[in-house]
Amino acid sequence: MKLQHISIHNFLSIGDIELQLAGRGLVLINGINKDTVSGDSNGAGKSAILEAVVWVLYGKTLRDIPADAVINRFTDSGAIVKLDFTVDDLPYQVIRARKHDEYGSGLFLYQGDTNLTLGTIKQTQEKLESLLGMDFTTFTSSIVFGQGYASVFTTMKDADRKEVLEKILELNIFSKCLEEVKLDYRELEADTANLNSTLTTLYTTRDSLVQSIKSLKDKLTKRKKEIKEEIKELTEAIKANAQEGNQLKAQREALLVKLASIDDNLKEYREIVQPYIKEVEQLLNKSRGAYLSLDKQRELMEKKVKELQDRVDNITAEFLNKPCDRCGRIITEAALPHVLASVLQELEISGQATKSLIDQVKALKEEYQKYEKEYNSKLLEKDEKFDEFIKQRDIMQRELNEVTAKLSRIIEALKRMKESKAEKESSTELETITNLITEKQEELKQVIDNIKTHQDKLESFKSRKDVLSFWKNGFGNGGIKSWVINSYLEFINQRIQYYIQQLGYTDLVVQFIPLVATRGDNEVDRVELQVVNGSGGESYLANSGGERRRIDVAVLCALQDLVRSRKGKSANVLFLDEIFDTLDGVGIEAVVSLLGNFIRSSDDSVFVISHNSELKPYFDRVITVVKENKITREENYECEFVS
Ligand SMILES: Nc1ncnc2c1ncn2[C@@H]1O[C@H](COP(=O)(O)OP(=O)(O)OP(=O)(O)O)[C@@H](O)[C@H]1O
Ligand SMILES: [Mg+2]
Repeated sequence: MKLQHISIHNFLSIGDIELQLAGRGLVLINGINKDTVSGDSNGAGKSAILEAVVWVLYGKTLRDIPADAVINRFTDSGAIVKLDFTVDDLPYQVIRARKHDEYGSGLFLYQGDTNLTLGTIKQTQEKLESLLGMDFTTFTSSIVFGQGYASVFTTMKDADRKEVLEKILELNIFSKCLEEVKLDYRELEADTANLNSTLTTLYTTRDSLVQSIKSLKDKLTKRKKEIKEEIKELTEAIKANAQEGNQLKAQREALLVKLASIDDNLKEYREIVQPYIKEVEQLLNKSRGAYLSLDKQRELMEKKVKELQDRVDNITAEFLNKPCDRCGRIITEAALPHVLASVLQELEISGQATKSLIDQVKALKEEYQKYEKEYNSKLLEKDEKFDEFIKQRDIMQRELNEVTAKLSRIIEALKRMKESKAEKESSTELETITNLITEKQEELKQVIDNIKTHQDKLESFKSRKDVLSFWKNGFGNGGIKSWVINSYLEFINQRIQYYIQQLGYTDLVVQFIPLVATRGDNEVDRVELQVVNGSGGESYLANSGGERRRIDVAVLCALQDLVRSRKGKSANVLFLDEIFDTLDGVGIEAVVSLLGNFIRSSDDSVFVISHNSELKPYFDRVITVVKENKITREENYECEFVS
């Protein structure tokens, strides 16, 4: 990076100053403040030039002036600073403006005619810094020796010093690497935690699967045994039932045979007894008919006898003066005895006939009764036998019914048992359990495979973690950076010692010592300044102002060497603000001659800001800034003294 030219407008006290920065050699910036009675240098606007350089590049000042406070208060336009520089021989221009009429408040970057300005100031700033290869701290530590400015390397905090060195040496790449590694590490830790939690879940799933497979197997064994037992019991029950069924069948057959024989007996009985009864029945009927018809005659005869008796008893009333039945003549009283005799005769005959009839009836009745008795006894005999057959048949039928019912119950039970047995034999229950076991075993296999995959992954995470841990340390404070810084510290210390001697001290040892402190898990690097003045103080602060200033200059020069040692990133300018204020004449001469060492090429410039105009003879050029009427301008005067 080579600064070429700066154009400053309305910045702090400066109205308008154009300044060639490259190839100016050793330049003294002097100042006259004509606004003061004595016309001295203070407040002339010397440091404002350096501030403008820093501001245009980094947007802030060494003095940390608030943003709008950089605008010149006594003009009505905003501030603008333009700086031309080259990087790898390519021309660039950076423009920074604050409340400027044309540019507003912004940062603009060009490479030749190409506008490189990005969307935001921040983005353009980043682009600019990457082009310069230096951030604010690096620039102000190695290019600028600011007036009372806190970032002077010697007075910095030990830890900040290390950071500046890191930046100059561009070790921030390792910080970026460290960030990446840390990010990777964190991600890996998160992934590991996830993996572990997945593994825990998988272990739980695996254990529960193993458990359920075991219970299923136990269940299968138990059920197999139970079903076998049940089938055995059923087989035995079926056998027993079948035997009983066979017995019942045989019993039934026997009963059917018996029943058939009873039926045969009945039939036979009917065939033998029936005609006989019929015959007796016919005889009985015949006898009964004969007996009844004779009894009828007897009845009629008895009725006739009774009538004749009534005639006899009532002979007069019956016959007197009534025509005779035979001759028709009227029966007189005299004729009555004849009539009576005739009637009595007839009565006698009828009585005889009746008597005979009664005897006959009696005989017939006896005969009938005999037949009847015989019939009845036969009938009774028949009925008893028949009843006995029927009774036997009923008993047998009942027995048969019972046997049949029992048999059908047994057949039904047998059927059920056979069905149940078949069901048990072809039972899907065991198959279901077996399938479930296979299913679970398959699942378990997958889970185990999954566990294996995760464990392998975990193992690879572990190795990766080891690698990352290694690089965490490697890129961390105690790692490569430390090693590089320590190596460079040797170089810096050598250079400091060289400049210390150039500045005329032989008994002064100034060196930076690397220190590593452990804070928590981190190793913190620091770079401590050790000053041993053989003829003076034993620390930086214990030394005098002039001594300290020489130490500062020696350190700055050593850092310049470091900056310039960076390929393609070296700067061509050095700004030193009021470096000589505490130096005596010898010191001034020594420092000036030392600074001359930094003019190594035609592009180089060393700008020394000083209120001391007596220094002019030591410099190649003198730039005088004059403040008049509150505005600083450059006096058109160049001293051509050669140092
Ligand atoms: N916004 C501003 N507008 C105008 N003048 C300003 C503004 N801010 C600061 N100044 C003045 O600019 C002047 C220049 O200051 P600068 O620091 O450049 O002086 P110097 O020449 O370096 O003086 P010294 O020798 O005391 O360091 C000072 O008088 C300061 O008060
Ligand atoms: Mg100043």
